[in-house]
Amino acid sequence: MKTLELISKITVYEDRYELPVEWQKLLDLAHEAAKKAYSPYSNFKVGAALLLNNGEVVTGNNQENAAFPSGLCAERTAIFYASSQYPEVPFNKLAITAINPMEKLTKPVSPCGSCRQALLEYEQKFNQHIEVLLAGEEGEVYVLKSISDLLPFSFSNEYLP
Ligand code: THU
Repeated sequence: MKTLELISKITVYEDRYELPVEWQKLLDLAHEAAKKAYSPYSNFKVGAALLLNNGEVVTGNNQENAAFPSGLCAERTAIFYASSQYPEVPFNKLAITAINPMEKLTKPVSPCGSCRQALLEYEQKFNQHIEVLLAGEEGEVYVLKSISDLLPFSFSNEYLP
């Protein structure tokens, strides 16, 4: 018998201003995208900004629906659009942030399990790590080198026949 340990590393920045300017800009774009979310049911606004290897930035926000499961998260809105428009361009970096109109978000927001799984698909497709920046409206920013840090021991196409 043995025990396997799964280790993920997160670099914690005290605030957004400690980040390189380019990363701050990506977070700004995510914040702008969050403002445009369609979230009349949760009132929670999430924004994602995806930097592609060709320098393009694709943004997305959450799109809700009266039939709740028909809505989609910000992250998947962004990555599915990116993949539909630039099918051969790898994803480089993803910034995610959110706005809670009831109370200022002072800690980083983290993507849901379905978005992690969807993101991992593209990391594997392009065999390139996607760096992830996670931020609230203020306070610390978390940076992860790879989606796999958010979803260790994941299901992938290597299991498929
Ligand atoms: N949401 C996202 O857009 N991304 C996530 O990773 C977590 C949750 C959205 C879905 C829904 O519109 C709202 O936040 C509340 O769950």
